[in-house]
Amino acid sequence: MYPVHFLESTDSTNRIAKELAEKGAPHGTAVLAAMQTGGRGRLGKVWESVPGKGLYCSIIVRPEIDIENYARITLVTGVAVAKIVEEVTGKRCMLKWPNDIYLKGRKCGGILTESSPVMMDNQEMYAVIGIGLNINSSDEDFPAELRTTATSFFMESGGNYTIREVFAKVRDQLLIELDEFSTTGFTAILNRWRKRDYLLGQWMECVGYDGNIVRGIALGPDSEGRLFLRDEDGVEHGVLSGDVRLAKSR
Ligand code: BTN
Repeated sequence: MYPVHFLESTDSTNRIAKELAEKGAPHGTAVLAAMQTGGRGRLGKVWESVPGKGLYCSIIVRPEIDIENYARITLVTGVAVAKIVEEVTGKRCMLKWPNDIYLKGRKCGGILTESSPVMMDNQEMYAVIGIGLNINSSDEDFPAELRTTATSFFMESGGNYTIREVFAKVRDQLLIELDEFSTTGFTAILNRWRKRDYLLGQWMECVGYDGNIVRGIALGPDSEGRLFLRDEDGVEHGVLSGDVRLAKSR
């Protein structure tokens, strides 16, 4: 049995989980909150946490992998989460690089992975994997600026879900996927990620490794987990892990 800390309310389950990890909490320990007052998203964004209607959890993992492999954990998590979203809702779930969970072209969830300081002893290293999923929320639960881009399990399937059950499925699948990652490597998991690639073949614009804006067709992530684009001249560009967006037109 993996320990779970159930909280009625907290600022951010990732913050609590990091504290627990620093104190030595074991692999698989999770923090689950009914609401967050300061939910964190990637790139310093806020994660809107509608009270009682979403899954807000953080899972501490200590996988037996090299430090370079930590960068791939978010993609591994995406594969696990998408499988469960699909199993639970019966709807096709897609992944938008690097961390977005999509249903019907809209975001229903996101992943925020935060790792231990790199100088740590191998045995003490950890990652905190924060997962937010919009589950029983309706359109009016979202702030106006998210209403055209966000969705929930309920909005796509009409069903109501028990959040703790979804949590247990997500946690178990994540630990299975991570175990496969540490024992047999990334290739098969990456292939499963590619089958759900929301951006593949679409025109996009993002910031390239050189800091310039790149426009091109999304080719998907490479074996390191980095997204690549091919521009109009056929040149391929790796993309920084910043904001990636679909281009309005070619
Ligand atoms: C994103 O899409 O930008 C990532 C969102 C991650 C949100 C989850 S909710 C549970 C955990 N605690 C946080 O503060 N953030 C993550």
